[in-house]
Amino acid sequence: MAVIPVDVAGRPYEVRVGAGLLAELVTHCRGRLRKRPVPIITDANVHAAWGQVVAKALTDAGHEPRWRILPPGEGSKSWEQLAATVDWLLAEEVERGDHILALGGGVIGDLTGFAAAIVKRGCHFIQLPTSLLAQVDSSVGGKTAINTAAGKNLVGAFHQPALVLADLAVLDTLPARELRSGYAEVVKYGLIGDADFFAWCDANGAAMLAGDAALREYAVAHNVAAKARIVAEDERETSGTRALLNLGHTFGHALEAETGFSQRLLHGEAVALGMVLAARYSARRGLMPHASAEHVARHVTEAGLPSDVSALGLNCDGTALSAHMLHDKKMDAGTLPFILMKGIGEAFLAKDVELSDIAAFLDEELAR
Ligand code: GLY
Repeated sequence: MAVIPVDVAGRPYEVRVGAGLLAELVTHCRGRLRKRPVPIITDANVHAAWGQVVAKALTDAGHEPRWRILPPGEGSKSWEQLAATVDWLLAEEVERGDHILALGGGVIGDLTGFAAAIVKRGCHFIQLPTSLLAQVDSSVGGKTAINTAAGKNLVGAFHQPALVLADLAVLDTLPARELRSGYAEVVKYGLIGDADFFAWCDANGAAMLAGDAALREYAVAHNVAAKARIVAEDERETSGTRALLNLGHTFGHALEAETGFSQRLLHGEAVALGMVLAARYSARRGLMPHASAEHVARHVTEAGLPSDVSALGLNCDGTALSAHMLHDKKMDAGTLPFILMKGIGEAFLAKDVELSDIAAFLDEELAR
């Protein structure tokens, strides 16, 4: 097992990475769970796969699990589910000293974290991420949110978990498409600032996706350590360091919006394609060698992720696609900061990107 400290000021916590952590949940929580009902928020798919393991771990140690089981999917990150979840926590008489458990992927973590942030002005919560994407990215760092009609993650709070337990055993029951989708966020860490890790992905990504346990532990722990460093340096995304984690996300969110945040394009698939677009746009501006951008595209394709926007069958042009970006929460005085690359492992924050130029680039990509 790897234990990675996240040194956020005033609220440091640990991310534990290893196989079998859910079955040993109470031991790893080390006294945080009180002899009171333990609220657990999850979705129906995760509950079917892991509910019994978690319930047994709790009841064997004398705790009483109380479940709130939400419909799977992005639709649960809504005002309606937030309100119903908060009402449920209040009906359960949750106290500030309790720890709410978030058992699921990014949707459950984001919704539960936001509910925990606002119930009684802030309760503790523990992230039990059950997707690769949540393990390497969304469960760490305290970003919590819901989606609204105006866009994704536009309402939320920074609220750090008290603990993250990333049980690698859950990856064995994850559908292959979900696993690949999470792999996009793994590759992202290499592209941002770690060319050696991108080379590791080239050499080991396929075996990791195929199920090699040691490679999975290495990748998750390595990525969590990278994220922990970034979050410790720039918790609230004010200095530009944490913004690098948005590589591929501005293009990706626009693609998700255009496809209706649906199963047609999963978040990680959108990020994978978004990273390819960021690389190709960087190359088009002469910032990054074209060969490096095509290396990124090849890696993404070989991982079974989308790398070609024209293959999505979108019924829109570059202007319509870039219009989704106007709702991006990173908009600053009318301009949108973009994460671009000077090379593999050399991402940077660009503040001089014109949306009209992005629209023209997307028109070229849509016609590719
Ligand atoms: N997922 C990006 C971040 O945590 O900042």
